Amino acid sequence: MALRKVLLEGDSTLRKKSREVSDFDQRTQELIDDMFETMRAEDGLGLAAPQVGVLKRIFVMEAVEENEATAFINPVLIDEKGEQTGAEGCLSLPGLYGVVSRPEEIRVRAQDIKGDEFERTYSGLEARCVCHEIDHLYGILYRDKAKGGLHSLDEEADEGPAGETAVEKRVSAKAVD
Ligand code: NI
Repeated sequence: MALRKVLLEGDSTLRKKSREVSDFDQRTQELIDDMFETMRAEDGLGLAAPQVGVLKRIFVMEAVEENEATAFINPVLIDEKGEQTGAEGCLSLPGLYGVVSRPEEIRVRAQDIKGDEFERTYSGLEARCVCHEIDHLYGILYRDKAKGGLHSLDEEADEGPAGETAVEKRVSAKAVD
């Protein structure tokens, strides 16, 4: 396994559409292993392949409650319910957060490393993360959906009375990739 460099906003790769994966081989396994290692090193909840410069429809996520690490190959949202609005961050836009509305609950269909299909239902933070990661596969960054633009985590923290809220935001923003 090896750490991969996370591309930052401004790199044109992050704005490109990823391709469907058809090879469920050792190379794909290595990419996924590297993505897990990179996500953990960066303290993220999720990471999408384009963020490490690979335009393939793959993302990884570490579900908080289930404490379960999962790789999603060729993922598609097949259902969504409700709405949640909250702070979100991205490893490709370090030090920033924004307020984004997402479905409260989603169902995702994907393939595993053997090519077998599976489906999962997530709510709350994990649902937010799945939507955020699938957006990456279409070249969409959360900046595009943030209400009122993006804010600096550090500036907020220095504002005194707002500091407590900022910490909460920092935690949740850091938790998404
Ligand atoms: Ni992201």
